[in-house]
Amino acid sequence: SDPGLVERARAAKAALGDRVFVLGHHYQRDEVIEFADVTGDSFKLARDAAARPDAPYIVFCGVHFMAESADILTSDEQTVILPDLAAGCSMADMAAIAQVEDCWEQLEAAGVAGQTVPVTYMNSAAAIKAFTGRHGGTICTSSNARTALDWAFEQVGGVDGTGKVLFLPDQHLGRNTAVRELGLSLEDCVVWDPHRPNGGLTREALEQARMILWRGHCSVHGRFSVDAVETARREIPGVKVIVHPECQYEVVELADEVGSTEKIIQTIAAAPAGTSWVVGTELNLVRRLAQQFPDQRISFLEKNVCYCSTMNRIDLPHLVWALESLVEGRVVNPIRVDPTVAAEARAALDRMLALPG
Ligand code: 13P
Ligand code: SF4
Repeated sequence: SDPGLVERARAAKAALGDRVFVLGHHYQRDEVIEFADVTGDSFKLARDAAARPDAPYIVFCGVHFMAESADILTSDEQTVILPDLAAGCSMADMAAIAQVEDCWEQLEAAGVAGQTVPVTYMNSAAAIKAFTGRHGGTICTSSNARTALDWAFEQVGGVDGTGKVLFLPDQHLGRNTAVRELGLSLEDCVVWDPHRPNGGLTREALEQARMILWRGHCSVHGRFSVDAVETARREIPGVKVIVHPECQYEVVELADEVGSTEKIIQTIAAAPAGTSWVVGTELNLVRRLAQQFPDQRISFLEKNVCYCSTMNRIDLPHLVWALESLVEGRVVNPIRVDPTVAAEARAALDRMLALPG
């Protein structure tokens, strides 16, 4: 990256000292990660956002829903800044609050809402988290989805009973967790399509379902294919396949390991030298892993999958702009969640933070 910009980022951070706390998600570019005080997966960053209550400014290098969650979980005196407001998440955009409210009304009309608990993936707008809090549900991330689902089913008579979970908005994480970790069957899972009347489901299908999965997916992870796993197994003897749980069920079923970004890093860090890996997650992280662990052979699962374009929007020029503005006494791109929405969303986030483990 541009040496002039690196120098400016260093100088601005030094000038701000303890007044700024920079958080970086594992999918961020190297040039940005270099300036992060803390790096992590979504769960770790949600927990760590409140770790420096004395810092008036939190610069969040990640995507919009993460910055919103940081705003909700930190004090009113702290300001969360997203260096580029266009850093959204296509999956989070697949669930709009009006669609989710409509879905819930239909569940009420079908008489199943009373035995349904919403579990919402962190990758969602604050309004969806607020909906979740209002209806007694919890947020989850890819690192605690199993515990969150266990908790949710406990609220409605246990996983062996007849209660249901409405899982928003990633159908793959919901299905992978329910089937692979809780022992539900694929037939127990139905997909609610917000673009079809009644979600595209009959009343009977809704009554029988245990997992009502929102029809959302990640535009990056959804593209990893069974074919790519099979090719890697053919071409690389002894290869270990590790993927993120946002990948399709069929892909996860063929993998050796599955986990959040943090778990992927820890698993590779703990493996013996000479291990061959193909990794099915975002490319910035896979490239960094290959550099960090040169005694292992680490490659990207699928040639034609690319970076998460919105994560990549946070680059060094945007970070320098945000930091230098603060030095000059100007706050650019603050993320401020409406207080009513924030209070309800916080209830759902706190429930997640209180889950065991
Ligand atoms: P992690 O929670 O594993 O960091 O994943 C976040 C994300 O956006 C994955 O696409
Ligand atoms: Fe959203 Fe997928 Fe990008 Fe994660 S990788 S931020 S889920 S689009």
